[in-house]
Amino acid sequence: MKYCLGIEGTAHTIGAGIVSFEGKVLANEKAVYTSETGMIPTAVAEHHKKHVDEVVARALKTAKVGWQEISLISYSAGPGLAPCLHVANNKAQELGKEHGIPVVGVNHCVAHLTIGQLATTMKDPVFLYVAGANTQVICLAGERFRIFGETLDIGLGNALDKFGREKGLGFPAGPKIEELAKKGKWVELPYSVKGMDVSFSGIVTKATRMQEKVEDVCFSLQETCFAMLAEVAERALAHAERSELCLIGGVGANKRLCKMLETMCKARGATFAVVPLDLAGDQGAMIAWQGILEKGKTSEGIRPYERTDDVVVDW
Ligand code: ATP
Ligand code: FE2
Repeated sequence: MKYCLGIEGTAHTIGAGIVSFEGKVLANEKAVYTSETGMIPTAVAEHHKKHVDEVVARALKTAKVGWQEISLISYSAGPGLAPCLHVANNKAQELGKEHGIPVVGVNHCVAHLTIGQLATTMKDPVFLYVAGANTQVICLAGERFRIFGETLDIGLGNALDKFGREKGLGFPAGPKIEELAKKGKWVELPYSVKGMDVSFSGIVTKATRMQEKVEDVCFSLQETCFAMLAEVAERALAHAERSELCLIGGVGANKRLCKMLETMCKARGATFAVVPLDLAGDQGAMIAWQGILEKGKTSEGIRPYERTDDVVVDW
C-alpha cells in the first residue's frame, strides 16, 4: 500500500495527514494557533515551527505507518501567510531529502474542494464553500475550478462571529447562533444578492443594532444569509448544468443551512452532500489527497498568492 504525508500550514493550523493512494484517511493530526488579538504572521509561524515535528510524529503513530511506506510528501504551497507557508515547505523538503521521498506543493483551496469530492463521492459538483473568511460558489469549468460567485465583503463565518462578538455570544459564534435561532421567530433583515455574489456586512450591522430578542435576530440572520446562499447555489446548478451540490467549509456544521440546501436540491432533482466536519476545516489530509492527485509532479518553494483558478486541473 502507498501512502502520502500531507503538511498543512497556510494560516492558523499546522496539520499532518496520512492518506492512502486509494483515498483512505489514516491520520489527520493538527495544532491550532489561537490568539485574542488576531494573527501576526511571524508569531503564527513560530507556533508552527514549534509544533510541526510533533504533529508529523503523531500522524505517523496514529496511522501506524513507517517512513518506508510513505511514497509521497505534499505541502500547502499557497495561498496563505508566507512565514507559515515556509514552515510547511521547509519541513516537507527536509523530510523528503532525509527519506528520499518526492515532494509536491499543492493549492490549499483546491485541496478543500477535492477532499470534499472524495468524502462525498461526488463526480462533478457545484461547490458551496462557506468558511470563516471565504464564501464562494465554485465549479469545474474546462480545465479549471471557476469561482461563479462569492462574498463581496466578509465570509459568512466571520460575519456570524462578528455578530456574536457584538452580542457577547463567545467565539466561535456560529454554533451558539444556531442554538438560539431554534427558539426565535422572524424579524425583517436586509437581503443582499447581487448577480451571483452576496454580501453580509450590511446585514450584520443591522442585526447588531436591532433591539428585538436575540433569539429572533439569530433566527432571521440565519434564514436570510442561508436563503441568499441557497439562491446563488441554485442558480449555479442551473447555469452550469450540474446535479450535485457539495457543501464544504466550517459553516457546513450548521443543520439549518444543510436542511435549506437539501430542500432546494430535492426540488430540482439534484443531490446534496456536506463534507464531514473533521475534513471541513484546515487539515493535512486534504493536502495529502491533493498531493496524490498530483503525483508525478515535484515542487519547491511557496506560492502565497496562487488563486483557485490558477491551478490547471489535470488529474
Ligand atoms: P477560511 O477557510 O475561510 O480561511 P476558517 O478556516 O477560519 O476560514 P473554518 O474552520 O472552515 O474557517 O470555519 C470556521 C467558521 O465556521 C467560524 O466562523 C464558525 O463560527 C463557523 N461555524 C462553526 N460551526 C458553525 C455552526 N454550527 N453554524 C454556523 N457557523 C458555524
Ligand atoms: Fe482553509
